[in-house]
Parts: sequence; structure tokens; C-alpha cells
Amino acid sequence: MLKRDVLSQRVRQVKPSGIRKFFDIINTMPNVISLGVGEPDFVTPEHIRQAGVASIQAGRTRYTSNAGTLELREEIATLLQRRYGLTYDPVSQILVTVGVSEGVDVAMRAVIDPGDEVISPDPGYVAYEADIIFAGGVPVPVKTYAEYNFAVRAAEIAAAITPRTKVILLGNPNNPTGAVIPREELEAIAKLAVEHNLIVISDEVYSRLVYNTEHVCIATFPGMQERTILLDGFSKAYAMTGWRVGYVAASAEILGAMMKIHQYTIMCAGTAPQEAALQALRHGDEDVQRMHDEYQHRGHMFVEGLNRIGLATCEPRGAFYAFPNITSTGLSDEEFAERLLFDEEVAVVPGSAFGEAGTGYVRAAYCTAYDQLEEALVRIERFVRKHTK
Ligand SMILES: Cc1ncc(COP(=O)(O)O)c(C=O)c1O
Repeated sequence: MLKRDVLSQRVRQVKPSGIRKFFDIINTMPNVISLGVGEPDFVTPEHIRQAGVASIQAGRTRYTSNAGTLELREEIATLLQRRYGLTYDPVSQILVTVGVSEGVDVAMRAVIDPGDEVISPDPGYVAYEADIIFAGGVPVPVKTYAEYNFAVRAAEIAAAITPRTKVILLGNPNNPTGAVIPREELEAIAKLAVEHNLIVISDEVYSRLVYNTEHVCIATFPGMQERTILLDGFSKAYAMTGWRVGYVAASAEILGAMMKIHQYTIMCAGTAPQEAALQALRHGDEDVQRMHDEYQHRGHMFVEGLNRIGLATCEPRGAFYAFPNITSTGLSDEEFAERLLFDEEVAVVPGSAFGEAGTGYVRAAYCTAYDQLEEALVRIERFVRKHTK
């Protein structure tokens, strides 16, 4: 035994992911319906896969430029111009990352000094708190509420701002709630950022998956492009989780700092995945629409079913998560998830794994086949009947 603390305080401060525990159990259960993983059930569209295969076949097996291929960065800049009317220089303001996961981590490390506070909606994506702590920052969770469809509100953010606040980190749409921040609320958050001179890190990995509402990019508000680190990627919209490609768009100053970290720790995103991503951007719009429509169809049926069973659930505006309130069963969210798994072989994730405000909820991902979701509802109903007094 080494007579010293081997592990850094930052690492010790981060709890192991509450989700992993469930995945390990699920893998041992053959009949389980997994609503646990937030991952599209679709295979990456054929023409995108072929672009990756062609890249390998042609022997393009070396590093690309640290920032990613210029072709891909140019295509990303074109997309951001088309979608948001925002102009980014592909050479100095766009970086291709290993998924949005890398983008979140590198963004934090580029702007956070020890003790800086980072405001972020609670519940939120599990990696946010960990990445803030790894960077030496202090997470400041801001509660979100079912009454507002779990969208974070500017007034709550304003109340959490202190002289140490450096960053507002938003998931828009958010995981695990599917919340999409309405335009007027986002505008008020942007004003706060300008007024208090804050950086906004905006994780928009689900930006193409919004339903019956608009997705607004916070960088489009006055004074925001220079202070927004915009993160997006390919995992969710194009069903490309395993390819590991995402991107960052930011001011040349911030992007240069992120490049410094990226080039020393990552070098570059994979070469074949970048070529597949280029194909996705150039020819993947119809695929995105097809999968979007399918998620919408599934989500509508599933959420209606959960409400019918008596688990109050907001209509998700984005992503592919239902976030039912399970307190009517008298079980805690952890007990609910554990017993549902063992009694009925349906896997969901306890809401408290995403922050304190997730207590009393579970996250059920509906990126699963329609008939599986129907069967999951039958099992959940049987389970709820058994537990509701
Ligand atoms: C909100 C959010 N951001 C980022 C990620 C990670 O995305 P990527 O696969 O691009 O790293 C996820 C994955 O679940 C997510 O839900």
C-alpha cells in the first residue's frame, strides 16, 4: 500500500456515474427492455457508413489537422450560417472534437480557474458536474420545475449569480428532461450573461431533435456570439454515437485556448469518422428528418401512456427522454428503477442521478422501437398498479 493519497481531490470529489451501475446489471438480463441509455436505436444511415468505409479503403489512415479537416470545418461553418445566420471563420473559430463530450470538458478547462462558479440547470447531463469539478470549478445547480416543462428560468439563474460566477452552462434541449428553453427566457439569460460578463457554454447536441417548438441558439442574441461556446455534434441527430465526432464554434480567442488543450490531449478526431460526418452534413438532412419524425411519434405515444398510467409526465419538447414523476408509487426514484428492473425487466434511470432536483422522477429514453415501448408501458402499468396504494 502506498502511504499517501494516490487519487487527486478533484477525482475523489466526483461520484461514480449512477447510470453505470444499472447498465452492468442490464447486460446480464436477456429479456430486459432498456429505456436506460440515451442512444439512438437506429444504425448510422448507409451512405454515411459507406463514406467512413471509403475513407479507410482509400488508405486515409493518418492524423488530420488538429482542428479537423478543413472541408469538415467549412461545412460546419456553412451549416451554422444557414441555420442561425451566424458567421464563423472555419480556420480560427471551429474545432472538430471527439464528440460533444470532449467539447464540454475542453470548454471548461479553457475558461475555468480554481474556485470559479459554473451555473447549470438541475437536473442536467451527468457529465456536466464532473467536468466542472475536473476543471477546478464549483458547480452551482439551478433547480428546474415541471410547471415550466423543466426549462431553466432567467430569474433563477439571476439569483444564483455571484462575483465568482464565470460560466452559465446550458443543455438546450436538456438531458434528462427534454426541456427546450423558450425564446424569451433564453433572451433574458443572454442579457444576464452580457450584463455580468459571463461565458455561456451551450450544449446543443439535441438541437435537431425538437418537437412542435423552435430551437433557438443563444449565440444569435446581441453580444452573445463572442461569449458563447457553442457545442454540437453528430451522435444524436445522425445516429452516430460510436463515431465520436462533435464540434465547437467560438470566438478565435476562446477557440485558440481550446485548441491548445485539444492538440496536446487528443491530437485530432478520427479521420474516417470525420469523413463520415462530412457526408452526414452534405447529404444527411432527410435521414435526420426521418429519425426525428419517428422519435416524435414514439414520444407522443409513450408520454400519453405514462400519463394514463398515473405517472405525471411533461410533453418533451426535445431530445428523446420522458421524465415521469413517480412519487405517486410511494417509492424513491432509486427504488422505483431498481424494482422495475428486477420485477418487470424494464430499465430506467433514477432522476436523482442527474441532480437533486431529479429526485422523485425517472428518466426513460424512448429511442427504442415502438412495439418495445408499448410493451414497456404494459409492464410499467402492472408495476405501478402493484405499488400505488
Ligand atoms: C446533453 C448531452 N451532451 C453531450 C452528450 C455526449 O455526446 P457525444 O456523443 O457527442 O459525446 C450527451 C450524450 O448523452 C448528452 O446527452
